[in-house]
Amino acid sequence: MPKKKIVVISGAGISAESGLATFRGSDGLWEGYDIQEVASPLGWENNPERVLEFYNKRRKQAAEAQPNKAHKALAVLEDHFEVLIVTQNVDDLHERAGSTNVLHLHGELKKARSEKDESLVIDIGSDPIKLGDTAEDGAQLRPHVVWFGEMVPMIEVAAEEIAKADILVVVGTSLVVYPAASLVEYAPPKIPKYIIDPEEPQLFNKKEWVHYKEKAGTGISKLAEKLKKEIN
Ligand code: APR
Repeated sequence: MPKKKIVVISGAGISAESGLATFRGSDGLWEGYDIQEVASPLGWENNPERVLEFYNKRRKQAAEAQPNKAHKALAVLEDHFEVLIVTQNVDDLHERAGSTNVLHLHGELKKARSEKDESLVIDIGSDPIKLGDTAEDGAQLRPHVVWFGEMVPMIEVAAEEIAKADILVVVGTSLVVYPAASLVEYAPPKIPKYIIDPEEPQLFNKKEWVHYKEKAGTGISKLAEKLKKEIN
């Protein structure tokens, strides 16, 4: 009997209990920084050092953070289901918790790339990128992160995978940033859909969803138990 396919769409909220700031909550990242200055091509053009500093700080914080109960519960689900994590997060906490099938829609902090040739991507772990650090084409290295106004290369692949899901789980995302937020519309209409978030997320057809109105750590653990029981 083939394993059922669970697709999980995760956002900053799943890493909140690992100590990493979300974007739009109170003391969210965008309270302290201007998106245009630190996460846009114009910001990079105007002041690359300020952009590098912003991501160097976040890269260090992510490297020092540990996966939490939610990341781990999702990783264990792979024992019983085919699991794909479609994450908007640029940290590697899903991978470090043991998830083996993670698709990063918005890039990854631990990678850098040539500012000229986006195919020249290198692993930098938790190291900072400095002005003057160059890729093999001699161009300045930049964070391998999708900035506002840039294309989301993996969006089609993610949509195709969600269209094949048997179960859809959304956790820790305000669903306000497109095109990522549009992915929920690709799920087959009749499959079970769960959303884990202490707040009320922006869903169009709320009646199709079961809302675990709690933090990811408890919500994901409870849902994982329920799903495991249902297949036994
Ligand atoms: N457990 C679960 N959900 C939580 C928790 C928690 N402990 N804490 C906060 N949340 C929820 C919030 O209620 C909110 O709905 O997580 C969501 C975080 O939303 P955002 O801060 O908007 O983060 P996200 O949706 O991932 O942002 C999407 O925006 O800035 C861009 O590229 C960036 O990938 C990011 C994208």
